[in-house]
Amino acid sequence: MCGIVGYTGPRQAYPVIIKGLKRLEYRGYDSSGVALWRNHKIDLYKKKGKVADLEEIMIGKDVSSNLGIGHTRWATHGEPSDRNAHPHLSASGRFAMIHNGIIENYAQIKNELVKKGYNFLSDTDTEVLLNFVEDIQKNNNCSLEEALRIALKRVSGAYCILLIDSEDPETIIAARKGSPLVIGIGKGEHFLASDASPFIEYTKEVVYVNDYELAIVKPDELILKNLGNEKITPYVQKLDMELAAIEKGGYDHFMLKEIFEQPSTIYDCLRGRLDAAAGMIRMSGISENIDKLINAPRIIIIACGTSWHAGLVAEYIIEELCRIPVEVEYASEFRYRNPIVHPGDVIIAISQSGETADTLVALEKAKENGAFIFGVVNAVGSSIARISHAGAYTHAGPEIGVASTKAFTGQLAVLMMMALKIAQEKNTISKERYQMLLNELADVPEKVDAILKNATLIKDIAETYKDAKDFLFLGRGYSFPVALEGALKLKEISYIHAEGYPAAEMKHGPIALVDAKLPVVFIATSDSYHEKIVSNMQEIKARKGRIISIITDGDSVTPTLSNHHFTIPPANELIAPILNVIPLQLLAYYIGVLRGVDVDKPRNLAKSVTVE
Ligand code: G6P
Repeated sequence: MCGIVGYTGPRQAYPVIIKGLKRLEYRGYDSSGVALWRNHKIDLYKKKGKVADLEEIMIGKDVSSNLGIGHTRWATHGEPSDRNAHPHLSASGRFAMIHNGIIENYAQIKNELVKKGYNFLSDTDTEVLLNFVEDIQKNNNCSLEEALRIALKRVSGAYCILLIDSEDPETIIAARKGSPLVIGIGKGEHFLASDASPFIEYTKEVVYVNDYELAIVKPDELILKNLGNEKITPYVQKLDMELAAIEKGGYDHFMLKEIFEQPSTIYDCLRGRLDAAAGMIRMSGISENIDKLINAPRIIIIACGTSWHAGLVAEYIIEELCRIPVEVEYASEFRYRNPIVHPGDVIIAISQSGETADTLVALEKAKENGAFIFGVVNAVGSSIARISHAGAYTHAGPEIGVASTKAFTGQLAVLMMMALKIAQEKNTISKERYQMLLNELADVPEKVDAILKNATLIKDIAETYKDAKDFLFLGRGYSFPVALEGALKLKEISYIHAEGYPAAEMKHGPIALVDAKLPVVFIATSDSYHEKIVSNMQEIKARKGRIISIITDGDSVTPTLSNHHFTIPPANELIAPILNVIPLQLLAYYIGVLRGVDVDKPRNLAKSVTVE
């Protein structure tokens, strides 16, 4: 969702901001803009479409400036258009603002301002907030910082704001509640952004701004304050991220690069934690809280999207191995109903970005009720990682493609290790089974590599089915969430309607869709459900559906029922989801590309959903 970049220092701000906005494109957006301080006024440029469209209108313009802010907007209030794009200028033209988030009570504030004679040039809540700040500043004849502080006490909602003043050539004022903000500290310069990717080549020293904090940022000074105007000492952290991690590295798309990175990202996730030879799993977040985990009356998993699918796999695995009841909740539902959470309940929060607004608020709610929060997060230092009591990073590295791939397999690997560790401590797993699963888990990177070596077979399947109107994905047991994930991936990046279903439940509805045109993907690797799913395949075949099956190497029966099949190396059924999802990621990718979709930035989707 919206991305923000700001720069103050001796460099030319415009190229820093434009490059930064391009790095944030992955978040999803529909317009972009930049405001530059020049000769005691603010020059504003904004354009619907891509950052490249913005660059086009900038050709020939004098953009020399050492202070600027830029924005990629994902429309919430008002259609995607030039006039709704950020930055916005205040009524007098003195201040410019960019904003990520939603001001929920903007309509009420707008009414008050309209009564005072303010006109609005856009439909955005941001312009309302900006004029509200200007109105306070004028009426109280106070500093911009003070006016912003007063305004923020009145607004409800989420925000990350950057503000500049035409009368101040070097200061950016920033504030955050609910939407991410990280400040890069250079030598005599500062960078501000939604995540660190825009400034990774300039500095690795960062400060993550917390909710209800305000930052006053000049080239050689960073002051952090709370809304009560008290100074806070900035906590400077060192980033462990390289530029190469956010570049395509020779692949056509980030998504393909991220799919192919999985042998190494899964390995990185297991490294230092899983020691199969010694029969050990080392996870400090688990060991330090083992009593809470083994005595948990139940576990609630909270997540959205692909992370929610990882949660469903974890439900099956944790219940099987640890014998602890598990519920898996959509964060957006959990936060608004009246869920029963007891002190002692363990919440596992799963999130790639660590910034998903619904997940964040759901966790705050559970925390207030005394639950213990364990975060399974990919983005280091993100909001969810920070509000968790303990956690385990997935170590998949920055994920840029909107459709999550390597983060999902990283989540599965972490969740599997957690389940094994808890089961061992709780004595709910035999020594033999524990060791067998450790060995199997250690083999995963190699098996993923073997699957990826056959990627062209999936490309051929994609060619055959690229024009389908609908798809059905079916699986049972541990493969059911994988079917959901396969359908989600395809929908996201090919715009083909796809449904994931438990294979047996298919008889209660989706079977009505089956005809000779419908491709049905079966996740049918060898497991304890295999015979059952073979019967489900027969049911589809009898109705002339076109079957694509994901099967275990060596299975000679299932191919006879399938129009196409793809083989996976043999694996235990608890481990198989990590492998089975790989061909489904590839299938979605190749179909998306063949249909001409911008697979890294599919329409309407955002990588990091920072509004509810
Ligand atoms: C968005 C992304 C998905 C992701 C979901 C949850 O919809 O496009 O890929 O699964 O948010 O995000 P999180 O960062 O919390 O895992």
